[in-house]
Amino acid sequence: MNFIELIERKRDGEALAAIEIAWLIDEYTASRVPDYQMSAMLMAVFKEGLREDELAAWTEAMLHSGEILDFSDIAAPKVDKHSTGGVGDKVSIPLAPMVAACGIAVPMISGRGLGHTGGTLDKLESIPGFRTALDPVEFRQLVERHGLVLAGASETIAPADRLIYALRDATGTVPSNPLIASSIMSKKLAEGIDALVLDVKVGRGAFKRDLEGARSLAKTMVDIGTAHGTATVALLTDMSQPLGREIGNASEIAESVAVLRGGGPDDLVELTYTLGAEMLVMGGVATDTPIARAMLEEVIASGAAFDKFVEVVIAQGGDPAVINDPDRLPAARHETVVIADRDGVITRCDALDLGVAAMRLGAGRATKEDVIDQSAGITVEAKVGDAVERGDALARLHWNDESRLAEATELANGAFQIGEGPAIPPSLVLGEVR
Ligand code: URA
Repeated sequence: MNFIELIERKRDGEALAAIEIAWLIDEYTASRVPDYQMSAMLMAVFKEGLREDELAAWTEAMLHSGEILDFSDIAAPKVDKHSTGGVGDKVSIPLAPMVAACGIAVPMISGRGLGHTGGTLDKLESIPGFRTALDPVEFRQLVERHGLVLAGASETIAPADRLIYALRDATGTVPSNPLIASSIMSKKLAEGIDALVLDVKVGRGAFKRDLEGARSLAKTMVDIGTAHGTATVALLTDMSQPLGREIGNASEIAESVAVLRGGGPDDLVELTYTLGAEMLVMGGVATDTPIARAMLEEVIASGAAFDKFVEVVIAQGGDPAVINDPDRLPAARHETVVIADRDGVITRCDALDLGVAAMRLGAGRATKEDVIDQSAGITVEAKVGDAVERGDALARLHWNDESRLAEATELANGAFQIGEGPAIPPSLVLGEVR
């Protein structure tokens, strides 16, 4: 086979055969093809898209570029959840122990934050000592022993994706549905799970700003999962405003612990239960979502979900004292309050502006090399539909580095709009794809 010929055919809108796609992914992963040729191929895919059969072949080739975990000897159903990323989206952290406490095994591979969206791994690493880089042997042991592991992808999981994602990042080819879908699904299918629940975020703070674009991405991923034999559903959920109250790393751990203790903000709790109920039904431990919700409520009320989180924190080297007492998590030295300049009702609480503001304060990274400030972040005090009076706090900025403050404050101020009202908070779940 000839790589240039494949580029030319894709460029001219022809479909490639599964064997050709497998070959080109293998050649690139083995460094037998230079970056400039793969970049041209990615741009051709970006422009021309992939047909359903091409996409299935592309994803399978990425999946088979590395190790595929096999948990078939573990009796419990294996189910995971994946979010396409948002602001304040810490759902995985309370969700995974809740679901594990209900008898589902959760081999969760998560990512890091980039740009204005946070990453589960960064949040977990604000727990002193918590290790997210686990080798496949330890990863398996944790699933066997605890029914739960919260880790990053090891070098051996879908190595083609790591290489291709870095190239996409540098060649303007990230926002392509088939490339996003194959990237996410190759890593998730490598976890050896029986079922997958996708949370596809929609709105200004998300990858997909409009419902139709999100639905199309969701359908692409659900089709990939189904074709692979892994039951997959996607919920389309709001990301026009941040989820919960906390945007940051340590602060999002504290908010997750609040959910595990039976508290936490309503929207975060509701979405966690909604996604958790899907996981329990797909895993076959509950026959319908009302029963699944009751099971989740029970593991919160009994403390079993909280205990499961403490158990996995200890197993991954983390300090359980900060989970038992979140006031011991890293805290920023300074606080700046964004206040309402008039009476009224919040009509806008923009996820993107607040996400970028938190990143500027140090909670996120603009480039992969940036180091995160685990204690920096924003507490959102008012969300869409809330009545406020002049002088009320809209957001609290937590910071350590003054040079980052001016831009973040301006962004946070601009994130809010106060109107006459009433304003209806957006629905949390905007649609689903099954
Ligand atoms: N997340 C991924 O893992 N890959 C993408 O391409 C986009 C988001």
